[in-house]
Amino acid sequence: MDLTNLLVEIRDRILYITINRESKLNALNKLTLAELHDVITQSFHDDAVGGIIITGAGPKAFVAGADISEFSDFNSDEARELAREGQTKVFDVIQNSEKPIIAAINGFALGGGLELAMACHIRVASSTAKMGLPEVSLGLIPGYGGTQRLSQLIGRGRALEMILTADMIKADEAYRTGLVNHVVEEDKLIPKAEEILKKIMSRSPFAIGSAIRAVNAAFIEGENGFEAEITEFSNCFGSDDFKEGVSAFLEKRPAEFKGK
Ligand code: COA
Repeated sequence: MDLTNLLVEIRDRILYITINRESKLNALNKLTLAELHDVITQSFHDDAVGGIIITGAGPKAFVAGADISEFSDFNSDEARELAREGQTKVFDVIQNSEKPIIAAINGFALGGGLELAMACHIRVASSTAKMGLPEVSLGLIPGYGGTQRLSQLIGRGRALEMILTADMIKADEAYRTGLVNHVVEEDKLIPKAEEILKKIMSRSPFAIGSAIRAVNAAFIEGENGFEAEITEFSNCFGSDDFKEGVSAFLEKRPAEFKGK
């Protein structure tokens, strides 16, 4: 796949995606979003990929938001299309991925950048990272799920304060509020994300997919998360991974999961 704005590499079953527009602080333009969609959806069918780490190029930014220059003259209809297309083709795709996706936040994660990190399953931040949803200072609100996912992650009161003030918070505050799972020194960022991802990838991929779907069900309008859990739980019993996991436990050996 020819890519302009992403660096992509697979090592030890981890797909590393680096958003690579350093001169624009990795701002998400249309092409970058399209490439993210293509690379991530293609990885779903690639057995060589067990999990994904998303980060930003350079020391300054993870992603400093949607590319403001691209939508400066949009009307309401174009804006609706931008938000809907982004949400359904990228942010929801990431949240619903059956393969675990970790955001390694290496600097500014603002607007669409924080929304991208929030769509990932787990967030690790470097101690120098800064996060915020500054859209109201541009006369906008978040459009890629930020109003919903921030409230889900840190609660309505804290989310409203961040969104209404447009303030950035530092990594340690993001950790305290539950916005990020871990804060580490800059040089430990990727190793920490790898450590978590490798642990997840050593578990049953079939069960990991089920767990993600069951957890996400709580946030889907009209879905009963408890019912979804019952369904996913029962589906696991029909998987080879379940047979292998139980056999390996009884035989006191490491399980060799196939994800089926
Ligand atoms: N969209 C488009 N371009 C962006 C961008 C964005 N979201 N964020 C940064 N850039 C560009 C700048 O325009 C600048 O480009 P230029 O060198 O061609 O002028 C380049 O990236 C570097 O940014 P700059 O503002 O000069 O860096 P800084 O260190 O002074 O400030 C930020 C860093 C992150 C505080 C500042 O860039 C910023 O506020 N960005 C916008 C954040 C935002 O509102 N995001 C939500 C968008 S909906």
